[in-house]
Amino acid sequence: MTRTLTRSADPQTAIGERLRARLDAQLAARRIDPARCLSADPAPQPLPALETAQLRIPADYRDAVADHPAVAAWVRTIAESATAPYAGDRHAQYGRTGRREIRTGPSLLLWGPTGTGKTRQAFGAIRSLTAAGCAVRWHAVKAADLYGQLRAQDTDTEAVLRHAMRVPLLVLDDLGAAKWSEWKEEVTFRLLAWRGENHLPTVVTTNLSPDPAGAGPRYLRSAVGDRNVSRLSGMCTPVQLAGLDRRYSHR
Ligand SMILES: Nc1ncnc2c1ncn2[C@@H]1O[C@H](COP(=O)(O)OP(=O)(O)OP(=O)(O)O)[C@@H](O)[C@H]1O
Ligand SMILES: [Mg+2]
Repeated sequence: MTRTLTRSADPQTAIGERLRARLDAQLAARRIDPARCLSADPAPQPLPALETAQLRIPADYRDAVADHPAVAAWVRTIAESATAPYAGDRHAQYGRTGRREIRTGPSLLLWGPTGTGKTRQAFGAIRSLTAAGCAVRWHAVKAADLYGQLRAQDTDTEAVLRHAMRVPLLVLDDLGAAKWSEWKEEVTFRLLAWRGENHLPTVVTTNLSPDPAGAGPRYLRSAVGDRNVSRLSGMCTPVQLAGLDRRYSHR
């Protein structure tokens, strides 16, 4: 360890000699190279929020990009409406402080045949929002898994549902894939009604058509009921994804 390493390029001494000596001693005790601490050109740091989000995203979608024009437009709308938390009277002179947080906004319904990239677009949207510097508290769950969690023994199932209802950004994947039941319709209704009424951004994916007039197994109405389709129509912009099943084309 040398003195020159602890001196900055700035001719002004940032700290006094005695303080510097104490700092050097403490760094040495912790086996920390002062040159690395005081380097003027630190290595680029990864975005912690994006790294954290990546760990929660299924491996298949960790490089997902929201490149569908309607999904990209939705991401922009949500990012622009994200606001920094209110500083309150104590910091009124500074206005709003902290990272912008997603609070309210429109929702998306991505629908189309299997393998057309709906789930990928949904995770791409989460990645884009995180990379844009928004604080995104999000939860992604397949509808069938949510129903399973809500049936689990020894679980506070109300807390599970409440979390899905209130989380700022929810991805509800594969809605309508599970066999219809009155209980599932009711649970879905509680979830969508709360999120719709509170304008909480939600990305729903489904293989079924959201056409409220349609009847039969290819329509969302027959899988989740009229009231849920009505809620989805009110809160979501429908985006149809078409094309071949990409899972086959990967082989
Ligand atoms: N634009 C893309 N570029 C590269 N791979 C893609 C793209 N879109 C989708 N894929 C890949 O194709 C596969 C199917 O995509 P995805 O799971 O998003 O489809 P899906 O529409 O959600 O299907 P399902 O209706 O069965 O849930 C995945 O492995 C995904 O990573
Ligand atoms: Mg999917």
